[in-house]
Amino acid sequence: MKTVLTIAGSDCSGGAGIQADLKTIEAHGLYGMSVITALTAQNTLGISGIMTVEAGFVKKQLDAIFDDIRPDAIKIGMLPDADVMRAVRDVLVANKASNIVLDPVLGSTSGTELSKKEAREFLKNELFCLCNLVTPNIPEAEILSQRTIGSKEDMEDVAKALSEEFRSSFLIKGGHSFFDKEDEASDCLYLCRESANLNSDIKESVSDKENEKNPIFIEGKRINNPNTHGTGCTLSSAIACNLACGLTMEESVKRAKEYIGKCISVGLDIGRGRGPLLHNLR
Ligand SMILES: Nc1ncnc2c1ncn2[C@@H]1O[C@H](COP(=O)(O)OP(=O)(O)OP(=O)(O)O)[C@@H](O)[C@H]1O
Ligand SMILES: [Mg+2]
Repeated sequence: MKTVLTIAGSDCSGGAGIQADLKTIEAHGLYGMSVITALTAQNTLGISGIMTVEAGFVKKQLDAIFDDIRPDAIKIGMLPDADVMRAVRDVLVANKASNIVLDPVLGSTSGTELSKKEAREFLKNELFCLCNLVTPNIPEAEILSQRTIGSKEDMEDVAKALSEEFRSSFLIKGGHSFFDKEDEASDCLYLCRESANLNSDIKESVSDKENEKNPIFIEGKRINNPNTHGTGCTLSSAIACNLACGLTMEESVKRAKEYIGKCISVGLDIGRGRGPLLHNLR
């Protein structure tokens, strides 16, 4: 039985965060574990509160897991502040963790401007380079690259630039907006030449043959369903599940994109706002 760990915030309404991740891991037939970094009070209409978990207790949870059950892959979601990020970084490095997918949450969390800026810098400079894949959506990729993305070519250029700057593979997701093509929801994958490998001092190199494929568009039709709460969490944990099973990055992302398409298209309609997906398709 392969094991997958999610390090993320709780969504009490069950559509995103830890809850979406564990449902996704279960749907893939793997063993799920969770380290909770924050509690959120939210539903399909919005977030009404965030209570962050103190960094020392995040570390305690991580240590409890790594002392006993080594995860075959890790998905990282919401990390509320730089102290929590530091705790996560330290444990991942100390345990030489592998197959790490980070879904950056750059939206507003609690805290001052200063701590937010510090957290963002820590994320970029200390965590991205430990990850095998980082999965920003278009607005997040714009913040990270300080560039505007207005076309598929821009998506490709930014994915390449981010991958080269932060030494991780990048997947820019086109879920929320897709320029003037309203019927498309495609994502752009750029495989890093030197993907993360904490087990070795030397980063693993993507073969020249594989590098020639860059960038790889993971094409998808936009599914006409307003209920897409938790798509980012679901996609990143599905990728982690596929990596845990030993698939390549490209294959892991392609299968996860197929999975998310099915989760959206079954058309679950729960709650009064942007509703959740159906994860268990069996
Ligand atoms: N309506 C849709 N039809 C098809 N695919 C979609 C749709 N909405 C999102 N996706 C897919 O879902 C995945 C997640 O992308 P998205 O851009 O929604 O991430 P996100 O903005 O991080 O999500 P979240 O709102 O959960 O943070 C991508 O593979 C994207 O292409
Ligand atoms: Mg997201």
